[in-house]
Parts: sequence; C-alpha cells; structure tokens
Amino acid sequence: MPRKICFINYKGGVGKTSLIVNTAACLVQKGKRVLLVDLDTQSNASIWLMRLDRWNKLNIEGKGSVFSIFEPGEDKLKDIIVKDVVLDKDGKSILPGLDIAPTTFNLVDLENEFKGDPAMPPYLKFYEQLREIEDNYDYILFDNPPNILKASQLGVFSANEMYVPANPDALSLIGFTLLVEKLMLFHKRSASFRQPGMGPAASAKGIIFNSIKANVDIEVPKMRMQLRLNQFRNQKRVHPSAKIFETQIRDATVVRRAVTLGLPVNLVGQVGQEEDSVATDYRRLATELERHQDQL
Ligand SMILES: Nc1ncnc2c1ncn2[C@@H]1O[C@H](COP(=O)(O)OP(=O)(O)O)[C@@H](O)[C@H]1O
Ligand SMILES: [Mg+2]
Repeated sequence: MPRKICFINYKGGVGKTSLIVNTAACLVQKGKRVLLVDLDTQSNASIWLMRLDRWNKLNIEGKGSVFSIFEPGEDKLKDIIVKDVVLDKDGKSILPGLDIAPTTFNLVDLENEFKGDPAMPPYLKFYEQLREIEDNYDYILFDNPPNILKASQLGVFSANEMYVPANPDALSLIGFTLLVEKLMLFHKRSASFRQPGMGPAASAKGIIFNSIKANVDIEVPKMRMQLRLNQFRNQKRVHPSAKIFETQIRDATVVRRAVTLGLPVNLVGQVGQEEDSVATDYRRLATELERHQDQL
C-alpha cells in the first residue's frame, strides 16, 4: 500500500502547493512513483505542472479532471491521470514517475450544485476509485484547499497521514488549531463509511515551516507551535509521532519563478543543483518525510 498524505492547513498562502509539488519531485528523483492529486479548485498545482496551454484544454472541455468523476461521472480516476506530467519545452518527459490527477475550476461545484447519492458521499466514491490504482504508486499526495469541505474531504478521507505547512506567524497557528477541530468533526461524521484495510484515519504527523527569511528569528512562533502540538498530542488529537520538522524551507524567489516556468524547483537550471539552496531544503524535506513513516 502506498503512503497517502494530505498537505493541509486552514490558512491559505502558507505554501501547501509549493511544498507538495517540490517534495513530490524530490521523491521521484529518489526513485519513488508518485501521484499528486490536486483537490484545490484554484488548480494551482495543475496549472503549474501541466502549464497553461494543456490545462486550459481540460478547463474548457469540462472533462478529464477531478470533478468529471462526479459530473457527468463518465470518467473514473484512472482515466484522468496525466502520466509523467513534467515536460520540457519540446514536450519531452523530464521527470518520469510524477503523475497528476488534475483539477479545473469546476471542482467548486462539488460543494453545492452536485447532488449525489446520500448513501455514497463523494469521498467514498473517490476512495473506491483510488483503491483501483493505488498499487501503481509509492506515494499519493493530496494538495488540499484551506478547508475540509467536500473537495478537500476526498483527500482527507483517503489519506492516512497529514502534514501542516505553516509560516512563523500567529495566523498559521490559528489555521492549525482550526484544522484539528474540523478534522475531528469530519472523522466522526465519516466513521461509518470507513472500511477494513483502509488504514488509520489521517491525523497530523508534522508541521513544516515554510518561507523562512534569512536573519529572522522564528524561535517564538516555533515555541508557540510546539506548545500547541504538545497539547494536542496529550489530548490524542494529533498522531503520537507528530513533530515540528527539522527541515524548514527558506524564502527564495526561485520558488515563485519555478511556477512561471512550469517546473519543480529542482529542475530549474543551476539553482536546482546548487548546494545550500532552497532546492536542498526540499530534498532534505523529502528525506525527512520518508524517515517519518514509523508507527502508523
Ligand atoms: N519558500 C518560498 N519562498 C518564496 N516564495 C514562496 C515560498 N513558498 C511559497 N512561496 C510563494 O507563496 C505563495 C503561496 O504559496 P502556495 O504554495 O501557493 O501556498 P498555498 O498552497 O498554501 O496557498 C506563492 O506565490 C508561492 O510561490
Ligand atoms: Mg495551494
């Protein structure tokens, strides 16, 4: 069974998408087979990796993306996967092993317009389709929006682990606190749909600090986050192994540039190879994530 992991925080703009795309790319470079599932209707990960021209076609056609599993419902998850998604300018695959289940703007309609079968909530339908293909992968990573509404639930229900990107500020701490509360509610409501063999319901196993500026002391926000984590661990609301990751990702303009280039940071020319760059941070993060497998 692959590791199934959500990157989520109730705060937007903390770096969920940039962390997940770059971590996915590093795992692939270590020889892992990775499926990235984009569950944010803003479609940032999909537009980034497919680039605008390919993604636009999907967005216009209204099929081949996550929402089309539900409406019109003719696609299955296995049909929408874009294999070896990262291409160079000539259309040649340059990161074989990184697949994406893309999303388009219509995913927002899952929240209200879509009237499904009450006995089969969207997350259960999604999970059953994921099970058909999950053995093709070592890692399935879900890029979630900053909430646990219906689109996000597709990943939260299927995943067994959760990592929380955070900036060193009070709003990230509030976002984490809100996440844990909403997660408890969702797990309670969806408990009757869990099946044998699914593994544990996802709980937070790590906080990852992102966009850390040089020469800025983050000890105080880090300490506050640690205290909250300890409190939740004592209340058994996060995983017993939950920790603040040792690796933190520095603030670097190449992260924003990589989005424009349609590449993960470690494939952006020189920078991607440099020692002691943000690319090294992502590689370290991937290694720390691999090691944090433990006591599920
Ligand atoms: N380490 C970093 N250094 C500089 N900019 C970053 C870094 N991480 C993320 N960003 C930028 O911050 C913005 C928000 O990041 P994103 O990953 O989209 O967050 P989220 O998915 O949580 O909304 C984006 O413009 C992204 O390029
Ligand atoms: Mg995002």
